[in-house]
Amino acid sequence: MSKDIYLTGITTTGTPHIGNYVGAIRPGIEASRDAAIQNYYFLADYHALAKNEDPDNISRSTLEIAAAWMALGLDTEHAVFYRQSDIPEIPELTWILTSMTAKGLMNRAHSYKAAVQANLDSGDSDADKGITMALYSYPILMAADILMFKSSKVPVGRDQKQHVEMARDVAQRFNHHYGDVFVLPDPVIDDSTAVLSGLDGRKMSKSYNNTIPLFADEKRLRKLIMKIKTNSLEPGEPKDPDDSTLFDMYRAFATEEESAEIRQRYADGIAWGEMKQVLFEYINEHIKPARDEYDRLIADPAVVEAELRKGADRARAVSAPFLDKIRSAIGIRRLG
Ligand code: TRP
Repeated sequence: MSKDIYLTGITTTGTPHIGNYVGAIRPGIEASRDAAIQNYYFLADYHALAKNEDPDNISRSTLEIAAAWMALGLDTEHAVFYRQSDIPEIPELTWILTSMTAKGLMNRAHSYKAAVQANLDSGDSDADKGITMALYSYPILMAADILMFKSSKVPVGRDQKQHVEMARDVAQRFNHHYGDVFVLPDPVIDDSTAVLSGLDGRKMSKSYNNTIPLFADEKRLRKLIMKIKTNSLEPGEPKDPDDSTLFDMYRAFATEEESAEIRQRYADGIAWGEMKQVLFEYINEHIKPARDEYDRLIADPAVVEAELRKGADRARAVSAPFLDKIRSAIGIRRLG
């Protein structure tokens, strides 16, 4: 039996934060070391374009995210690590898939519907205000990412599940019409990975502006951790670890035994200030070696660029011949 192919994309908007690390980067890096599966990881910079029109932001974010994965130990010999825009077959396949995707399917995309709803809620007479075709067709580009590399498994967060299902629908429709060309993908959603809360107690997310950057320097990391919201219980009063952002964060990094110890200290009434210091020291120690490597990579982007080029060559060795086959299947052929 052939190996399962796992593929996942990371949109290049913003700076990686500790919620990204715990929820996606750390499990992704672990999976990259699993010899039983083939992994593709890529920087979805064309997807970023649908969300952000600041050129410096997109290129800076591409560097930061690539450097973060590399510094944390992604196995780029085994996993294929590349940048979406280095693979010209992807936009080409996107157009081919666009030609056979029902508009009605795209009308049902949650993210598009949410954008329309936001316009209606704000009383705007134009339901499509500010909505680009890139936002509308976003799931088709994502389908091309997935189908190009014959991936059967697509690890994503809950918010992306529908997009993977749409990729499957598109592939099915294509196969029905043109023969068995694409592998049908399934989303993989790991409910056991932690979803971290941010500074204000809501889910840590760029859009809430409540994140802790993964590689903030020591001083900044300390300052941000000191800002995390707590309740008004005094030192000496027992506290509930299961309703505490500080504890959630600690647990996401620490071993079971260490977490059990801290649980006891909550029962014994640890002061919030002290718990913040404990958390800062723990995360700082954990992150330090990777942060040093990250700083080196950011200062020397050519190293990151070379790694991405290498990945692109490996990816194109798959995508170029497969696109030839797809073109032939749909009748885009040489005439003699
Ligand atoms: N849209 C995904 C996100 O925002 C990123 C992404 C792009 C992706 N292409 C993909 C994820 C293909 C999985 C497979 O998180």
